[in-house]
Amino acid sequence: MNILILGGGGREHSLAWAVKQNPKCDRLIVAPGNAGIAQIAECADININDGDAVATFAAENTIEFVIIGPEAPLAAGVADRLRDAGLTVFGPSAAAAQLEASKFFTKSVCDAAKAPTAAYARFVQAAPARAYVEKQGAPIVIKADGLAAGKGVVVAMDLATALAAIDDMFGGEFGDAGAEVVIEEFMEGEEASFFILCDGETALPIGTAQDHKRAFDGDQGPNTGGMGAYSPAPVLTDEIAAKAMNEIIRPTLAEMAGRGAPYQGILYAGLMIKDGQPRLVEYNCRFGDPECQVLMMRLGAQALDLMLACAQGRLAEIQVNWAQDHALTVVMAANGYPGAYEKGSVINGLDNLPEDSYHMAFHAGTTEKNGQITASGGRVLNITARGDTLEQAHARAYAMIDQIDWPEGFNRNDIGWRAL
Ligand code: AMP
Ligand code: GLY
Repeated sequence: MNILILGGGGREHSLAWAVKQNPKCDRLIVAPGNAGIAQIAECADININDGDAVATFAAENTIEFVIIGPEAPLAAGVADRLRDAGLTVFGPSAAAAQLEASKFFTKSVCDAAKAPTAAYARFVQAAPARAYVEKQGAPIVIKADGLAAGKGVVVAMDLATALAAIDDMFGGEFGDAGAEVVIEEFMEGEEASFFILCDGETALPIGTAQDHKRAFDGDQGPNTGGMGAYSPAPVLTDEIAAKAMNEIIRPTLAEMAGRGAPYQGILYAGLMIKDGQPRLVEYNCRFGDPECQVLMMRLGAQALDLMLACAQGRLAEIQVNWAQDHALTVVMAANGYPGAYEKGSVINGLDNLPEDSYHMAFHAGTTEKNGQITASGGRVLNITARGDTLEQAHARAYAMIDQIDWPEGFNRNDIGWRAL
């Protein structure tokens, strides 16, 4: 089978790595890909947010199955366009991707589904939003309604921060994404990510993970897209996962089907867990990055069978084969990230790293120049390892990092601390 993966980060490298191991995969193309992906697949430079361009490319290359990595093409309706063209597609319709693309949409679905989540109010003007926050007090959470590249959420521990966030959002800091603002009750607890495959009818949990959002050790410094992750998440016990399925996930999927927008793809639920009770923080309509890297490391080749069954509406027939293993990934980022950073520095030491089902250096933001691997993004490498215990996965990942020579980059040294 000829397979096309859309995206070019560490998430897509790990998807390509898992898919490639499955004998069902004949030809694998990733668009746009990166220097690491180019070592295992063909890369193609197409505009992945343009459904027509992707459909044309897929036809020209006799693609049979398309896996959509990031949220932007999903929100832009690329999955719909490709399904209309007769392709098998992994990823929700634009209507179902509203679960990530609009905070208010998700809140209204939770209301209808009676899914536990933070209390909220929605505003389209600054003055009533400010008045509401002054009445509620801090801590409080201010969210731009639309997609804002992970930056549209302000967890305000004091009133001044909350009011400033409201002014920024209505002032156009996030463009159209901030034209509506959702203000939420601050939830306490421990966060974990829960990943569920959905084919419109059947929901199949495929794993849990926890990530580290802050840039520096000890969960200090600015928020990032994620500096590391590990799977499974010990806080998401079987009992709490079952509760989340019954109280949050299945009611959400039923509500989506009832609205004529059945969800098909991976549903990534961010949960806040306190006193054994999960509550929904947010949905994403794609795999997390870097959470995907630890999930793929654990699932391996079966990931393709699972995604294919999901896209073909056959999830009821399939099972996940779980090993009692653990995986951990450490993000290596360019100095300065998540603020301004330099591009183009050379990374040495990658050639001698082990590459097997226990060790993998996934590339997130790299470009090859004159035979050398150079940094071309903020998050650059995802050093990922698997083991019988989290300790073992941790030791393996950090042993790989010790071999990498890249003075222009940094990483956290305490990924997994909460679980170790
Ligand atoms: P989001 O972009 O929705 O994932 O939000 C980013 C982060 O903000 C989440 O991962 C949480 O850590 C935090 N957050 C979002 N909503 C809440 C809430 N209602 N209470 C506490 N923390 C929240
Ligand atoms: N690591 C968080 C995300 O992918 O949204």
